[in-house]
Amino acid sequence: MPIDIRLTTIPAPAGVSLAAHLAAVTGEADDGADIAVAVQGAETAGLDPYLGSPAADVLAACDATGKAGEVTPVAVRVGDKPRRLLFVGLGDESAADMRKAGAALGGRVARERGMLAAAALGQPAGAVRAFAEGLLLGSYRFSLASQPASGGPGEVRMLVSAADEQAAEAVTAARTVAEAVGLARDLANMPSGRKTPAWLAGEAARTAAASGLTVRVREPAELAAEGFGGILAVGAGSAQPPCLIELGYHPPGARTHVVLVGKGITFDSGGLSLKPNDGMKAMKTDMAGGAAVIAAMSALAGLRAAVRVTGLVATAENMPSGSAMRPGDVITHFGGRTTEVLNTDAEGRLVLADALAYADTVLEPDVMVDVATLTGAARVALGGTLGALYASDDGLAGALLAAGEQAGEPLWRMPLVDDYGDALDSPVADLANVPHSSRPRAGSIEAALFLREFTGGRPWAHLDIAGAARSSPDSGEVKGATGFGTRLLLRWLCEPGQETQTAKAQ
Ligand code: BES
Ligand code: MN
Ligand code: ZN
Repeated sequence: MPIDIRLTTIPAPAGVSLAAHLAAVTGEADDGADIAVAVQGAETAGLDPYLGSPAADVLAACDATGKAGEVTPVAVRVGDKPRRLLFVGLGDESAADMRKAGAALGGRVARERGMLAAAALGQPAGAVRAFAEGLLLGSYRFSLASQPASGGPGEVRMLVSAADEQAAEAVTAARTVAEAVGLARDLANMPSGRKTPAWLAGEAARTAAASGLTVRVREPAELAAEGFGGILAVGAGSAQPPCLIELGYHPPGARTHVVLVGKGITFDSGGLSLKPNDGMKAMKTDMAGGAAVIAAMSALAGLRAAVRVTGLVATAENMPSGSAMRPGDVITHFGGRTTEVLNTDAEGRLVLADALAYADTVLEPDVMVDVATLTGAARVALGGTLGALYASDDGLAGALLAAGEQAGEPLWRMPLVDDYGDALDSPVADLANVPHSSRPRAGSIEAALFLREFTGGRPWAHLDIAGAARSSPDSGEVKGATGFGTRLLLRWLCEPGQETQTAKAQ
């Protein structure tokens, strides 16, 4: 069970103290659930009778500071039974801090007891949504253990203000988004032994059927007939054939068409330019961009997105073998541009080039955004929290930056330095996939400049998520794949002004 919580809401009538709500709720179904309340506002919430002492004194005695995500358990008496009350810190009550608070609680929902979460009661809808998202995603676990934890998911009942219709809607939206992020994480966490390109296409098709999307999967014969030479070359060394997944969402009346392109390398060994073992260990997640695209597509109908969206995932396994592409080979992309492959480990740009060229010339969208674990250089530059954003258009960049900020998946804009493009000149082809010379290099920028060649001058953004796609093994909140990109794409695609924003970007 990836998201291990079933979240329901309880409408709380306005003008009643938190303590009275709790008494009403715990009285009618006293299941012994943990009770989560916020440190912020606890003094005036009327909790003192439960606590036996003024809330402020209890918090001081327990060193509870109210820092976002800090959880302080105290024992309280409800009726004649002891219960666990969790004081959670909401920090500055910003969306980011509310998400952190929710995640901290989500990580400790006890299946057998469940939780009554009152911590976001009375907060504005945006904060309620962030809290609920955090709660659900904080419970995410991925395991292929033969003995999965027994019992169903933990039940969490969230108190929301009955007077505020938006609060209940916010929880529904949070559920839809969190399920999508859970899907992205599941796909990226699956080991490559099972996760072949065909498997990924099967998961995409299953998702499409469940979410009312159209789906088309191009197999190698079709890829060859239509000239997708980049995808075929990258997949050539593997026993697992590559494919191109195309998902479609077309709501009636949509005027704007957005194409999302995801890198779907199901395992990146580097190919003949083989990576050292340490560099390979995390490469099952080299399809995290593709996973974010599939996941975002899965939630568009649920969130009633008003734009037409096509999701392309170029998927292949990058392996060395007697049939693998070689350094020095020249390949022909969709549309006819040629690339001299100097390093088979710079494979992501080769598959993305085909997909971007196809999008530009066949789908003719208003905007294209690609998402890819493209370069180790982006991870070195920005670490594990921020995604690198490149954009050909300032309006589009601004909209994506804002969406990332709101969704808790922050981006940092990087420059497309035109002069650096010369490094990708090739004596035998239109482009080289990496520079011939080994002068000081800007690896992430060069990769972005390579991709730009295939965008036909359309408004385009590129998210290099090599760092953010995966949390470091020792970091706390999320283990393994993060699903980065899913939430920010959904924010961007579903915001009310989307139609005009993308139109402006033209
Ligand atoms: N998938 C890698 C990038 C990557 C590295 C993602 C580390 C996540 C963590 C990509 O295909 C790659 O190998 N890039 C090379 C490019 C180089 C050969 C120009 C890199 O970054 O070293
Ligand atoms: Mn590579
Ligand atoms: Zn790769």
